[in-house]
Amino acid sequence: MSQTAGFGKCKKILESEIRHVWEEVKVPLGDRSYDILIGPGLLLDKVKYLKGLEPFTGPFIIADSNVEDYVGHDLVTILQQGGYPGAKLLSFPAGEQSKNMETLVGLARSLVRLGADRSSLLVGLGGGVTGDICGFLASIYMRGVDFIQLPTTLLAQVDSSVGGKTGVDLPEGKNLLGTFAQPRLVLADIGVLCTLPAREIRNGIAEIVKYGMIKDAELFQKLEEQWWDVVNLEPYTTAYLVKRSCQIKAEVVSKDEREGGYRRILNFGHTIGHAIEAASDYTIAHGEAVAIGMVAVSRISVARGLLGRQELERLIKVLEKFDLPVDIPEPITEEEILKNLKRDKKVKDGKVNFILAKGIGDTVVADDVTDREILSAIRQ
Ligand SMILES: NC(=O)c1ccc[n+]([C@@H]2O[C@H](COP(=O)([O-])OP(=O)(O)OC[C@H]3O[C@@H](n4cnc5c(N)ncnc54)[C@H](O)[C@@H]3O)[C@@H](O)[C@H]2O)c1
Ligand SMILES: [Zn+2]
Repeated sequence: MSQTAGFGKCKKILESEIRHVWEEVKVPLGDRSYDILIGPGLLLDKVKYLKGLEPFTGPFIIADSNVEDYVGHDLVTILQQGGYPGAKLLSFPAGEQSKNMETLVGLARSLVRLGADRSSLLVGLGGGVTGDICGFLASIYMRGVDFIQLPTTLLAQVDSSVGGKTGVDLPEGKNLLGTFAQPRLVLADIGVLCTLPAREIRNGIAEIVKYGMIKDAELFQKLEEQWWDVVNLEPYTTAYLVKRSCQIKAEVVSKDEREGGYRRILNFGHTIGHAIEAASDYTIAHGEAVAIGMVAVSRISVARGLLGRQELERLIKVLEKFDLPVDIPEPITEEEILKNLKRDKKVKDGKVNFILAKGIGDTVVADDVTDREILSAIRQ
């Protein structure tokens, strides 16, 4: 993949000024239900979508230092000229290392200085880091204000902007402080993805492969057959992928908002994935670790007779098409991964819950996977 795969096609879409909602997904959560609107150029028309959320003060847009330059300043200008003179931009240095309480408190103090009050609207413009920070801040600023999500990475559009988990990291671990808080609206503008580096695109694709594995054999097949359109962010294909991913996540989350049980299926490939990320000291990207994790649990599934060998081969092949790794890289050892697995915050009474593949498109939960099974799956 080139550094900015898809840029050409995306740019054309933006230049042709097509601004349409192509897909719409409803997240049914009673009086906290909201819509996800998907299509190209939505940010340019953002003023229109804000009307339904009035009255509010601001809006206060939160973006990281990259997104601030790519679209943040333009967006504030569009809003200021479109009837929201109070629109303001707050930014923080890009990267996971900013996802902490210091950043959160810094942003909160800026909000106070800028006059944000109980009726202010916060806007998370960026990837998952920004979305998680903005959602957390909105849920505690003056005991809670409204927020919307404008996800600008593929990962944020297919995963982190949906579901209501917010939070920041502690030195002791990721996402250890946070809340559940639902946005009023999510606008997934697929046009903004054109500046995404290839590695970030791959991170998002790994999550889409996950949705196919846990819930949707058709989506999985689409990834296999149209992988070229997928990596090139062909607009209609991208809109379809974002829609199906959001539908699947919304369906799971609406059945189990606070992760009582069912929501765990979203962790397919993640238990081992998180352990790999930690063992690599976070030099392996999340999507890469999840790809290796999905292959490992699928190998366990094959050994238990839940998944066919050919289906495992299909998973490996599709991940390789997207340049995603399928085996743990040197110098990470199996023992380190096992050690990190036991430290996972989701481990209960020393038992690790694994989501295993039951064919492509279905899962089963197992809490009796042995260390031997894990070691043999990651050693292959
Ligand atoms: N809340 C949830 O349910 C949930 C789910 C999954 C992941 N997450 C969190 O999401 C975070 C990862 O999200 P991410 O991968 O989006 O990371 P990120 O927000 O750090 O974005 C990745 C990089 O892409 C840049 N970027 C963003 N939009 C861009 C664009 N349009 N063009 C070019 N560059 C752009 C960012 O500046 C950053 O450097 C993690 O902190 C993870 O814990 C949360
Ligand atoms: Zn993930």
